[in-house]
Amino acid sequence: MNFKMEIMIKRRNFLGAGLFALSLPELMLDLFNDKKAHKPIVIATWKNTKAVDEAWKFLADGKKAIDAVEAGARIPEQDPNDTSVGFGGFPDRDGHVTLDACIMNEKGDAGSVVFLEDIMHPVSVARMVMEKTPHVILAGAGALQFALENGFNRENLLTDKAKKAWEEWKIKSEYKPKINVERHDTIGILALDNSGDLSGACTTSGLAFKMRGRVGDSPIIGAGLYVDNEVGAATATGLGESVIKKVGAFSIVEMMRNGMHPDKACKEAARRLLSVKTKEPFQVGYIAVNKKGETGAWSLRPGFAASIVDSQGYRLVNAKSILSE
Ligand code: GLY
Repeated sequence: MNFKMEIMIKRRNFLGAGLFALSLPELMLDLFNDKKAHKPIVIATWKNTKAVDEAWKFLADGKKAIDAVEAGARIPEQDPNDTSVGFGGFPDRDGHVTLDACIMNEKGDAGSVVFLEDIMHPVSVARMVMEKTPHVILAGAGALQFALENGFNRENLLTDKAKKAWEEWKIKSEYKPKINVERHDTIGILALDNSGDLSGACTTSGLAFKMRGRVGDSPIIGAGLYVDNEVGAATATGLGESVIKKVGAFSIVEMMRNGMHPDKACKEAARRLLSVKTKEPFQVGYIAVNKKGETGAWSLRPGFAASIVDSQGYRLVNAKSILSE
């Protein structure tokens, strides 16, 4: 048995595990490209195992990266135990759950919703903004109206757990972002599909007990997410104000455009956060993937991690951090 055949059989065993479903010619191509391009691949902020697993089902089926990232982002959005994304997210200081999300496809199209209330899946509304309107961002009441007109249902997103946390917070009303608490905030998810196309999505309920009307980085194209299909994609989690000031995701993609490996680009973007002055210590984490399927993950402070699935399976990568170097 020759070497190529042996690897193919190993890969076919992997197919049998139901994790990978490419046709034989695609498999051959994928195999021969392996050294050059690790695709398909999906990477997400934090320990978002179920989200990347869901996205992987799409990629393994040969589907598009845009479908994979949307499907992945919807998992924490509908999870009542995730207190920083979608349903179950902690409310603003007035007790309202307000959501921000955006999405970008391989064509460079972008859609975003900010300050959206009562809709379980803001990432899907953002996708509809991208695909059905001439705009990029819809906000507040307009975003809600658009969602309702397009078949989304109005739902109460404030769970008993989140309401209790808000009532306890009100006793002191201290506004202090907590570092790395409960995955802090935000799922950012990036995928490279089998055709070599990139997409990304980002969704959050933002900082717990934020001021009413506050919008973070997550729905801001270039800050919380950026995708350039010629180069790579990047996304952010953590204190949105800091990410916006540094145009985090776009800066990472630009560094990759200039030849930097995604890991180095994430490191440099994280290092630039050192000059952001805030009253309280803050955390930001960045992840990125380039056109070859190489990935990166760095944060300002220790405690950040990234979830990855590729043909080797799932892995949780503990990110390095600037302030622990
Ligand atoms: N990174 C999410 C936020 O600050 O709202």
